Parts: sequence; structure tokens; C-alpha cells
Amino acid sequence: MQIISSTNALRLALKTQANIGFVPTMGNLHAGHIHLVNLAKQQCNCVVVSIFVNPLQFGANEDLANYPRTLEADCEKLKAAGCDTVFTPTVAEMYPQMAQSATGIQLNQSMTIVPPDIANDLCGASRPGHFAGVATVVAKLFNMVQPQTAFFGKKDFQQLFVIRELVKQLNYPIQIVAGETVRETSGLALSSRNGYLSAAQKQQAAALNETLHEIALAIQAQNTNFESLENAAKTKLNRLGWQVDYVTVRNALNLQPATLADQHLVILAAAKIGNTRLIDNIELSL
Ligand code: PAJ
Repeated sequence: MQIISSTNALRLALKTQANIGFVPTMGNLHAGHIHLVNLAKQQCNCVVVSIFVNPLQFGANEDLANYPRTLEADCEKLKAAGCDTVFTPTVAEMYPQMAQSATGIQLNQSMTIVPPDIANDLCGASRPGHFAGVATVVAKLFNMVQPQTAFFGKKDFQQLFVIRELVKQLNYPIQIVAGETVRETSGLALSSRNGYLSAAQKQQAAALNETLHEIALAIQAQNTNFESLENAAKTKLNRLGWQVDYVTVRNALNLQPATLADQHLVILAAAKIGNTRLIDNIELSL
């Protein structure tokens, strides 16, 4: 396995590869990331994993400085999983146009991707600019790695949607493959941010997935008053000590609020325990 940090060296290393599978990450790898690497191994001849904590997708008051950076342990996991190339670009190479400011990195708007409208809804409503940062870095990574296939987790359902739009709107010749969410036995979705939780908070965190399942069961039992299900779930989570950002039932294909005609739903939630913001979702076919 080779570890490469410059784009020129990466291009040289990948020059003769015809079937590249790419897994973009921000590192601090867990079994959810490795699941995507395994999918890439199954489907592609050469697997590239990027590790880049992208300043552009963090808000001014978010955890950019504290985000866990564990490169050595990550590389061991990737080697064991059969990854061929780890790409670890520098901030300066990723953002040649950057101007450092007190609030983080600011780019000339013409150098960033304008994501679809959905980027301002759900997580984008409380994290302004987040999906523009994600779309911009993923577009740049696609240009650098030039994969045939790229793998993203359903855990970040809205992100997956934004990436599919990006590929469609910018005509990238890249197939997007979605990986299922890997969870703890408690149901808690694996996340690099789970490391911020105390043991007690981690136990408490299982309630997020439980609550989504309760909504799914109610819908399957013909309770289609989505708004009242959402409100009951928010009240329950708030009572359990969460600060709820949203719990919402959406059409899984376009992420618009669910209607009675929809066959394929996704129930999404974002909420904070203490200072840690967690997200989760489950899909539901009727
Ligand atoms: P990161 O949070 O490191 O996640 C990298 C990939 O792993 C994403 O596609 C994410 O959906 C997937 N993933 C995370 N937790 C998962 C789980 N429990 N099960 C399955 N897949 C999981 O998402 C990002 O990084 C960044 O926004 C990135 C796309 C790299 C752009 O900077």
C-alpha cells in the first residue's frame, strides 16, 4: 500500500490503472469506512482511499480543530483491508486559492461548487455552507483521483444525495455506489464523532436509532400522520436529554417531505447529546 500526498505523485501512480474504486474520507476510520473499502475491493481493481479533514465543510463554531486525526492507525486498517493507495492531500494543495481568516478558510465563490437547493435543508439548514464545502472537496478529489466508481455511506443520506446530483449536473463519468450504514449492536450508527461521547452518553445515543424505528413501525402499521409522528419523536428525544435539530419523514428519492403517494421513504434525524451532533436515518419501502 502506498501513501501519497501530492496530486502529481498520485496521477503518476494511477496512470496505468483502468478500474479505480475511490472512497473519500476524513480519517479516524471505523468499520463503516472499512465496509466501503470492502465494497470497492469487490468491484474494482485498484482501491484509493483519501484522508482529508476538509476545512471548507466545517462551520466557524464546529469541531475542525478537535476532529480526530489518527493517520497511523487509519493506514494500518486500510492496509489490512487491502487498500492500494492512501491519498492524504495537504490543505494548501486542495485549496490553492485559499485565504486564511479568523473564521477559517474562505474561498472566492467562483472557485466553489454551488450545491443543489436541498443543501440548504435538513443538515444544511443548521450548517450553512456545509454541503457547498462537501461538494467542492469531492469535485476536486474526483478530478485528482479520476475514479470509475466512488463509494459513499447511506449514513450521510443527504450527502449521498448531494453527491449524486453533483455527478449528474457536472457530467462526471463516475458511478456512485451507496454502502449500508454499519452500526453498533445497540443500533447506534458508527461515526468518528461517537468518540466525543462519554460511556453514559453512548448508551443514551442508541435512542436516536430506536426512535427512527418506532416511526417506521408506526408508518408500517398505517399511521401516516407524518407530522404527528415527527413531533412525538422530537418530544421523546428532548425528554431524554437530546437537543433535536430535526426528525423528518421524506421521500427517499428526492428528499422532499413525504406524501401519502410515496412508496420509498427515509426517516432522517439530527440531534445533539451535549456538544456532540449525531445524525441517523432509516429507509422504508411501503
Ligand atoms: P467521513 O465522515 O469520514 O465519511 C466517509 C464516508 O464514510 C462517507 O461516505 C460516509 O457516509 C461513510 N460512513 C460514515 N459512517 C458510516 C457508517 N456508520 N456506515 C457506513 N458508512 C459510513 O463523509 C465524509 O467523511 C466527508 O463529508 C467527505 C465525503 C469525505 C468529504 O469531505
